[in-house]
Amino acid sequence: MRVLQVASEVSPFAKTGGLADVAGALPGALARLGCDVTVVMPAHREVFTRGLPIEPTGWEFEIPVGTRKQRATIHQARIPGHDPGIAGAEGTPPVTVYLIGNDSYFDRPTLYGGAEDYSDNAERFIFFSRAALELANRFEQPCDIIHSHDWQTALVPAYQKILADNWPRLARARTLHTIHNMAYQGVFWHWDMLLTGIDWRYFNWQQMEYFGQLNLLKAGIVFADMVTTVSPTYAREIQSAPGGCSLEGVLSGRGDSLMGIVNGIDTHTWNPRTDLHLPRPYDATSVAEGKSAAKAALATRLGHAAPDSRPLVAYVGRLAEQKGIGLLFDLLSRLAGSGRAKFVILGTGDPRAEESLRQMAAAYPGTIDLVIGFDEGLAHLVQGAADMLLMPSLYEPCGLTQLYALAYGTIPIVRATGGLVDTVVDAGPEALADGTASGFVFDAVDGGALVHAVERALELHADSGRWLALVRRVMAQDWSWDASARKYLRLYERALAAEPVPARVP
Ligand code: ADP
Ligand code: GLC
Repeated sequence: MRVLQVASEVSPFAKTGGLADVAGALPGALARLGCDVTVVMPAHREVFTRGLPIEPTGWEFEIPVGTRKQRATIHQARIPGHDPGIAGAEGTPPVTVYLIGNDSYFDRPTLYGGAEDYSDNAERFIFFSRAALELANRFEQPCDIIHSHDWQTALVPAYQKILADNWPRLARARTLHTIHNMAYQGVFWHWDMLLTGIDWRYFNWQQMEYFGQLNLLKAGIVFADMVTTVSPTYAREIQSAPGGCSLEGVLSGRGDSLMGIVNGIDTHTWNPRTDLHLPRPYDATSVAEGKSAAKAALATRLGHAAPDSRPLVAYVGRLAEQKGIGLLFDLLSRLAGSGRAKFVILGTGDPRAEESLRQMAAAYPGTIDLVIGFDEGLAHLVQGAADMLLMPSLYEPCGLTQLYALAYGTIPIVRATGGLVDTVVDAGPEALADGTASGFVFDAVDGGALVHAVERALELHADSGRWLALVRRVMAQDWSWDASARKYLRLYERALAAEPVPARVP
């Protein structure tokens, strides 16, 4: 089966969050199952700064954007194949990545903008989505499945149907669109409809219109042959308010063409046995030594003379409302003064959150270490060093950070929402006894509930034998991509066997 993956960010080429991890790892996992996978992404400036081999292809073509034509220049690279001997990743064939370039759109310092989004984001991703199909239409072998991700590429399924005459070689393909976050829908001024080249008839409340504006994600949800999101619980949550962020009706209208498939871990990149960011890679038997070496390295990195003996509680992630930053503040202000734990926070995002965290860290020197910034290597070291990882998310479509924590023997403390429900089992007495426990789960959006969960974790941590047993058990869990990639493959097969969604106007 020939599968085209279309995404706005792909690890290791460009990344702002979990989407890049998924778009970088799922292709390899599908290739291991025998699919012939090609990836298409924008040639962001960041792509050329990572020292990865990238070649020009010499292909260039013009893409209509509104009444103008914009040039697409195609580069080529590969997602590296994986070394044999890495559990879950053996024999991954390298996957070809095409990078669609246009300097005026993509030669920019960040992917989507800074504190404010770039004002032409609609135009940039209309161009990219159309160029991806234009490119795929020129492949020697036509693709069977076109799999797009998030609002940035949500026009792909709509284009494949509505402008089908432009791309005859894609006519038989089926489309699947994956939603990674309902809060980002790509909602723009309605006049951006002109840039899409799609007839105004489609600008109606059942398809592309949304409270008078153009909604790109809605187009993807309506026109894709299959729609997925990144966990079964989130798939349920988005079919009613507030999870659906006003698209709950459209989502529930998709019936059994909407499914949740949990993300996996790229065991090549996130593997404590082989991780070069760790001073002493470790497995379940050497986790205690591995973690204490990582703690020492982290202490040095953060400018401390020696590591602390207190349990180390970490936060790694975007500083965004979604992540429960308010709860995190509450926790720190209630617990940092007690001296019972040490905290390390790595994140970047909302300037107000950054400023408030700076104040918090300054109030508890020696207890709260704060690194504002995006630092991939440090994220690995923190996962290796920490005993516990906080994820008090208000909502969480899947979450990868807690999966990385499990792999690194770092016990996650999470709120019961979305993918966190599907991946972490609370260490209540029963789950501890039957060996299914993997973390600490709380429910209420309330600092007290988070404090209580952390206190339970600290209590168990004090019993070092039981703690180590828990750590070893979570490290033995298998969150590699293979099981989830199989589920995608089954959906692709289902889509190919079914009638496509028509391009009709209701
Ligand atoms: P989301 O995609 O909502 O941000 P996920 O948990 O799915 O959340 O994925 C986050 C990814 O981004 C992980 O790979 C995590 O390690 C990484 N990440 C987030 N913030 C940072 C940061 N400040 N520095 C390094 N990596 C980060
Ligand atoms: C989004 C979600 C996160 C998910 C990631 C990858 O960024 O916020 O929960 O893990 O996408 O699917």
